[in-house]
Amino acid sequence: MKVRAIMAALCATGLMAGISAAQAAESVEVLHWWTSGGESKAVGVLKDDMTKQGYTWKDFAVAGGAGAAAMTALKTQVISGNAPTAAQIKGPLIKDWADQGVLVNIDQAAGDWKKNLPPQIDKIMQADGHYVAAPFSVHRVNWLYINKAALDKAGGKVPTTWPEFFAVADKMKAAGIMPIAMGGQPWQDLTLWEDVVLSQGADFYKKALVDLDQKTLTSDKMLQVFDTVRKIQGYFDTGRTGRDWNLATAMVINNKAGMQFMGDWAKGEFANANKKAGSDYLCAPVPGTDKAYTFNVDSFVFFQQKGQKAATPGQLAMAKTIMSPEFQEQFSLNKGSVPVRLGVSMAKFDDCAKKSYADEQAAIQAGGYVPSLAHGMAQSDATAGAISDVVTKFMNSSQDSKSAVQALAKAAKTK
Ligand code: GAL
Repeated sequence: MKVRAIMAALCATGLMAGISAAQAAESVEVLHWWTSGGESKAVGVLKDDMTKQGYTWKDFAVAGGAGAAAMTALKTQVISGNAPTAAQIKGPLIKDWADQGVLVNIDQAAGDWKKNLPPQIDKIMQADGHYVAAPFSVHRVNWLYINKAALDKAGGKVPTTWPEFFAVADKMKAAGIMPIAMGGQPWQDLTLWEDVVLSQGADFYKKALVDLDQKTLTSDKMLQVFDTVRKIQGYFDTGRTGRDWNLATAMVINNKAGMQFMGDWAKGEFANANKKAGSDYLCAPVPGTDKAYTFNVDSFVFFQQKGQKAATPGQLAMAKTIMSPEFQEQFSLNKGSVPVRLGVSMAKFDDCAKKSYADEQAAIQAGGYVPSLAHGMAQSDATAGAISDVVTKFMNSSQDSKSAVQALAKAAKTK
């Protein structure tokens, strides 16, 4: 259900008038989907910081990678007049919620944000000229994780092109190693597919997935995208249906598979398992995407409490904490991401994170910094959902690329 439809339902049942916080101002209820090992450690940093400042943290964690279940829970909470203090919302959805008049303005906490955020991100945190969301960090989506021992055993090298990738996958297969660990949920299908779209160039990605340009969506290059995805699928194991992303990461961590396509929240899992970048595992941009960067920025929005339009002290404190340099560093060290705040020291980070930060700055300059479709940064829920359905259908059937491309072009018209 769209945010608009929810608000209509709210008005119809008269619940709007009754919205009241179930908790005192000093108690902060936080809805998020960070439940894997690395994710919980990262959100634990915020919990500790808020607790130290005297606030009581009420955790409202809804399991499910990429947050589909969390978004459903959030809508139910808002409809029943129990909006949480803060919720994990990102991308264009921030503005959708703000347009419903249920969020608070956090300008007071955001005095120095403009000069400390990349302009692309700064814009997303605002609605009608006011800050309504606080950004945590930047995840790069277009990563390939490789088990170093598996690569060495297979005698392969880190692939930078698709032919090189398939050569490595074949070598792993020949050495008795499952080449790719893959989960089985629509958002994971879409994550891999958008990686392959990006490998056709950042301009192609932008035209296809940001501008939704029909000519690009129906081009020969898009046909190749589906063909490449089909070929990659040939290297999955057969048990992926319903598998969570972190269980696929665990297969790479525990030497059960050679590689995984995943954003760098996967690095939080490696770190949580005490695995070291460079010696236990390698990170590489998805083949053909080294100059490009699909960004995924997590953020919290803050809901009006007890019918009050102004932010509570707890909400302002949380927003301020999230953007503080100390928190930005500690959170990303656990999460696998890089600080979204510019100028935070990268000294304590591993080589993968250092590369991510350097590549981010270069991509911003060169125009290769693009929003992730699979992670809610590029399109509305309705449009992204329609495209996701096409991709998942393709990846879970024997549909040919040509008819998938036609379905894609149609889905992109969904408003
Ligand atoms: C993404 C989110 C990340 C990570 C991932 C898996 O959408 O931005 O922070 O949690 O889902 O749950």
